[in-house]
Amino acid sequence: MATVFVTRDLPGGGLSRLRAEHDVEVWPERLAPGPAVLRERVAGAEGLLCLLTDTVDAGLIAAAPRLRAISNLAVGCDNVDVAAARARGIPVGHTPDVLTETTADLTLALILAVARRLPEGQAAVRAGEWLTWEPAWLLGRDVHGATLGLVGRGRIGEAVARRAEGFGMTVVHTARRSGVALADLLERADFVSLHCPLTPETRGLIDAEALARMKPTAFLVNTARGPIVDQPALARALHQGAIAGAALDVTEPEPLAPDDALLAAPNLLVLPHVGSATHATRARMADLAVDNLLAGLAGRTLPYEFAGPG
Ligand code: GLV
Repeated sequence: MATVFVTRDLPGGGLSRLRAEHDVEVWPERLAPGPAVLRERVAGAEGLLCLLTDTVDAGLIAAAPRLRAISNLAVGCDNVDVAAARARGIPVGHTPDVLTETTADLTLALILAVARRLPEGQAAVRAGEWLTWEPAWLLGRDVHGATLGLVGRGRIGEAVARRAEGFGMTVVHTARRSGVALADLLERADFVSLHCPLTPETRGLIDAEALARMKPTAFLVNTARGPIVDQPALARALHQGAIAGAALDVTEPEPLAPDDALLAAPNLLVLPHVGSATHATRARMADLAVDNLLAGLAGRTLPYEFAGPG
């Protein structure tokens, strides 16, 4: 029986399977444990099940001499110092595949919402601004026939491409080993949607120069990671009308404060990082995260060990 720290209560039945085999402490609060509390809790743990809101850095790993397995409840592992874990022989698990379709659904929802101005329409109805049917009111952009530019075409990008083709969109992509050049994609796309991991190479990838390449009628959609976009540059582009709008499920930082300067920008839809947030998918993620941790603690190969750069 190993000592395990889980940084938040999880939906579904995964945690009871973990409790059946190990001595499990679950952080009981809604907010993440702060860095000092996390370090103190993980110091004696052999297993850690963490979320993307928990920073598992080299210092935390060094301060946990008994740690044998880390399981991250996310597909992205930019919150974990994977290199530091690997250097100690600690496997890091993550939860790909189970959230692919759900995140792709949300991406399409964002594309449709900004193109057809759904938040403005809803706000107008509630504000009593719906006075009559008007020929030129709340006009948006067609999604069918538009070109979607995918920055990254891994599992989620591919699932978005399938949906977009069903909507009659033309899909172009840029990826490490295939596709068009980023500059070309930015100039052609009516919707630019980000599906690459956050790495040193992609941090700030969508900067002022990239935004300036986009058409003034184009939209930016981000369901990947906030820091891939230079947010002050995005705010400027929106204020200047350099692009038509943006829909973000991820920001920098998270959570975004209600008085963050970004939120003053026009034509902007922001969601609180809910790409994988359905009952079924979150339960599957929890199950997979538990499977990864159980395997790691038993010295077995993880069903999904994070294979990305570390
Ligand atoms: C969510 O953003 C994830 O990486 O799973």
